Amino acid sequence: MTAAIEKTVIHEPFRPVFPTPAGLIVSADEDGKPNIMTAGEIFNIGLKNPCIIGIALRKATYSHGLISRTGEFTANLPSRALLEKVDGIGMKSGRDGRDKFADFGLCPLPSLAVKPPIVGECPVNLECKVLSVTTVGDHDLFLGEVLCMRVDADKVGKNQRMLIDKMEGFLYAEWEYYEVGRKLGNFGLSAGKDLRLR
Ligand SMILES: Cc1cc2nc3c(=O)[nH]c(=O)nc-3n(C[C@H](O)[C@H](O)[C@H](O)COP(=O)(O)O)c2cc1C
Repeated sequence: MTAAIEKTVIHEPFRPVFPTPAGLIVSADEDGKPNIMTAGEIFNIGLKNPCIIGIALRKATYSHGLISRTGEFTANLPSRALLEKVDGIGMKSGRDGRDKFADFGLCPLPSLAVKPPIVGECPVNLECKVLSVTTVGDHDLFLGEVLCMRVDADKVGKNQRMLIDKMEGFLYAEWEYYEVGRKLGNFGLSAGKDLRLR
């Protein structure tokens, strides 16, 4: 017999899938002036060849217009040393001309494949070309093909695998930030050494 498990109905689901990273999305205007925004809605979608990520932005953000017009952005995954900057960048719009790279003391580094720069201090940088934009409820989903991925060299291990333990990444859920916890095991741990996807 199954033990009784009591469940509560959540009347108005809000960001129900947890946790997600809080990343920094960089876009640039037609003159090349970059703008950063914070986004909790960053998803892996197409995993490889092509590698496609999704970001969900509200139309009200300045970044939405820039990315819609230019078709490019970079997604940058921060370490926890950047937490206060990530939070602060998410509370200020670049619409009034402010330079959030300068205001928050971050270093724009040239991208290799797109015009918007990457955020140098973030250990993972993804340069993306927009493939499509779809309105999904209160956000627009931008699918971006990752044309170039760079990772801090000291955080890359064998076979170009990211050393997640060294990223010191953090997560965002329910208006709160959390550390990434300890490693629990490897993919396939329930199936012995047979790691093929079925
Ligand atoms: C942790 C965090 C996560 C956020 N996630 C998103 C998001 O996924 N999509 C979005 O449209 N706004 C998100 N925001 C709000 C934007 O970052 C904010 O509106 C910002 O001022 C937009 O900047 P911009 O107008 O210069 O583009 C988030 C803010 C924070 C602090």
